[in-house]
Amino acid sequence: MNANKKFPDGFLWGASTAAHQVEGGNQNDWTEWEKENAENLAEKAKTFWLFNDAQRKNFPEMLDRENYISGRASDHYNKFEEDILLMKELGMNSYRFSIEWARVEPKKGEFDSNEIEHYRKVIKALKDNGIEPVVCLYHFSNPLWFRDIGGWGNREAAKHFEGFVKYVSGEFAEEVKYWIPLNEPVMYANMSAFRIGPWIDWPYKKPGLSSWLRMFGNFVHAHRLAYSAIKKVNSESFVGIAKNYTPFEVRNKSPLSFCVSRLSNRMHNERFLKAVCQEVDFIGINYYARTGIKAGFSNPKSWFNQNEDEVVSDLGWEVYPEGLYRSLKTAGKFGKPIYVTENGIADAEDMKRAEFIRGHVEAMTKALEEGVDLRGYFYWSLLDNFEWANGFWPRFGLIEVDYKNGCKRTVRESAREYGRIIQSRSSKIES
Ligand code: BGC
Repeated sequence: MNANKKFPDGFLWGASTAAHQVEGGNQNDWTEWEKENAENLAEKAKTFWLFNDAQRKNFPEMLDRENYISGRASDHYNKFEEDILLMKELGMNSYRFSIEWARVEPKKGEFDSNEIEHYRKVIKALKDNGIEPVVCLYHFSNPLWFRDIGGWGNREAAKHFEGFVKYVSGEFAEEVKYWIPLNEPVMYANMSAFRIGPWIDWPYKKPGLSSWLRMFGNFVHAHRLAYSAIKKVNSESFVGIAKNYTPFEVRNKSPLSFCVSRLSNRMHNERFLKAVCQEVDFIGINYYARTGIKAGFSNPKSWFNQNEDEVVSDLGWEVYPEGLYRSLKTAGKFGKPIYVTENGIADAEDMKRAEFIRGHVEAMTKALEEGVDLRGYFYWSLLDNFEWANGFWPRFGLIEVDYKNGCKRTVRESAREYGRIIQSRSSKIES
């Protein structure tokens, strides 16, 4: 492998965020659920996360109820200008963020033009600084009215979402080229129906396979409706999906492990992409880690994540860049342009992040060399943020946020390293 291969001109280098995780001041199904469940989550964390002494010592805040309330989050809603200047300083030419459905459509069919003006300012500030906006329209949080009619389990869910998409895409038809209607729909369905995923808990609970299938179908329909709506207002738009991709590997000789691995791959990785591949202009891959499978007589939840774990994040997730290469190669078979729309590590001490990024950039280099049409990379996340039901303690940010001190920003050393990679367009920095 030639690790010095340059990334092509026009490659998007950026970072990602999601509205509920960074903006602050939201009012949606998550904010309500957090308030009711914060104590419970702090209690659960005692057994769920404390898997080694370092973690117990380093993250005492996981036992505090405040950790689980998003509140003002990273205050990005107010500090977006400062954040955009930092992106520019680091040399990024793109930013993936989401528009909060609950802000824009707080009541069914009633749109708040002040909130649209807020996002217009964000988009303008990005463009003024040479940063391409990549706009996601759904990243896990729902308006309260939508929750009250059954959320993604409602038969008309896709139609409700389409109303919001039509409004927003109409407002920004000229300013925004890149659109991602849905973030990780399958992960949402997995968490809601099976409680399988990286978080300790989830607000929307509809257990069972039939519920999973209903949500899955609704998300496919929602994506298709959104795709046509966005293309209708501007046929030049580039519309994709942000799909979590997890390579599954069998770790024992049991035929059951083999079946579970195949089924997981079909349900989690392939099924959604196959369903929407005619209605995407690009595929976005969110890659974090692989999962080894050891099925047996134990609780099925313990069958997953049986990894080698030589290097792990603060969340215990294995660092495995080869998995990104494998995901890109598989996604490449759909024949669409590909973007890495999320890839990151929880690393409060910032000891592993630079190497993590370098390793994953090398994996992308290898995929590029082998002909994968890869066009961008978005590190998760620009900022430390609210990591859903795990709260604030996992630190994914290129930029540290001091929550106790007015959400003050400090650029981490690994972010400077990422800046150098962007500048040299290579995983090997030229001196
Ligand atoms: C989600 C993000 C989340 C990240 C790290 C992704 O699956 O899209 O919202 O913060 O994983 O857990």
